[in-house]
Amino acid sequence: MGDIEELPVLPAGAYTLRRWETGDLHVVREVSADPLIPLITTVPAVYDDAAGRAFVARQWGRPATGQYPFVIARTADGRAVGNAGLRVISADRASVGYWVAPSARGAGAAGAGLRAITDWGLRELGIARLELYVEPWNTGSLRTAESAGYVREGLLRDWQRVGGELKDMLMYAALRRPR
Ligand SMILES: CC(C)(COP(=O)(O)OP(=O)(O)OC[C@H]1O[C@@H](n2cnc3c(N)ncnc32)[C@H](O)[C@@H]1OP(=O)(O)O)[C@@H](O)C(=O)NCCC(=O)NCCS
Repeated sequence: MGDIEELPVLPAGAYTLRRWETGDLHVVREVSADPLIPLITTVPAVYDDAAGRAFVARQWGRPATGQYPFVIARTADGRAVGNAGLRVISADRASVGYWVAPSARGAGAAGAGLRAITDWGLRELGIARLELYVEPWNTGSLRTAESAGYVREGLLRDWQRVGGELKDMLMYAALRRPR
């Protein structure tokens, strides 16, 4: 799976998933100011154009390491509103993550992006199990996961550092063979 060099374009209704481009810096700038996104991603917490360009360039190198970061863009005008990414853990398992810029929230972008990347991972890549981790307070993300068919499996205590502190995470999973 590490041999996918060019990300495909994945249609997702009102949204389209595609590779990052330098024209997407506006969304990196916007989410730099988000209280959570720079803590759980490599989005720079302090934005300048050099840091934004470096973020985009890093995304281009990810497929070589089994990570596939897609921009969630509006289909109508191509404008980037967020990110949906898949990281291969093994031949049978991958994790997914997503974020949407504050100005574009509540319009179905995360749900559409997650459904598209989930379908791609399970059907095109043939991965058996996709996982995602959500902090219990994050209702928007819990709903997004459930709306895309992910099933809650349990609470992982002290699972991940966020902003320097260990946090509990709810694990959700979607299976190629649902049961
Ligand atoms: C969580 C996040 C990705 C949601 O993005 P979004 O584009 O606004 O989500 P959508 O519009 O696709 O909504 C998906 C579902 O979640 C619900 N939802 C979204 N935000 C919500 C909120 N703040 N409170 C309650 N429900 C919410 C929607 O109603 C929808 O549910 P439905 O399908 O049952 O109608 C976005 O708020 C975000 O980027 N947050 C910061 C980063 C983050 O938390 N990432 C996930 C880490 S696990």
